[in-house]
Amino acid sequence: MEDLKIVYYPSPILRNKSKNIETFNDKLQEFIDKMIDAMYKYDGIGLAAPQVGENIRLFVMDPNEGEPFVYINPEIIWMSEEKVKYEEGCLSLPGIYAKVERPAEIKIKALSREGEVIEQHLKELAARVFQHEYDHLNGILFIDRISQLDKFLIKSKLKKLEKEYNKQNR
Ligand code: NI
Repeated sequence: MEDLKIVYYPSPILRNKSKNIETFNDKLQEFIDKMIDAMYKYDGIGLAAPQVGENIRLFVMDPNEGEPFVYINPEIIWMSEEKVKYEEGCLSLPGIYAKVERPAEIKIKALSREGEVIEQHLKELAARVFQHEYDHLNGILFIDRISQLDKFLIKSKLKKLEKEYNKQNR
């Protein structure tokens, strides 16, 4: 398997709803390792499979720069009423940052890379990154969740990415 390449905005791959993973074979394990490598290589704290071209429900994250976590077929089963605003960025949208309001805490359910059930209560940056990556699996980008003013402020940067993408994919 070759090294993974980042899929950039506005690729339609980023807008698809990803499919559940049902087979936990060696190919999947190899793909997960490549995703973890790519996350560190590109200096990300999270990376979702659609961002490397696969519309499958899987992401990796390392919000506290300690160890990589792998989530397969994740679900958010509870969200706190308390919300917090925090600046986000995305490897698929280089150079773009904006504040996004999200629930401060969540409870999640997912499968590990071995296919075992994981249940966690996430707070702070872990809750934030989980929600950002989870959105990727549903074709949602953080720029979909920002204020009208911020949308206006990043407009020219988005246009630049669109131009670049069209050049690469002509
Ligand atoms: Ni992202």
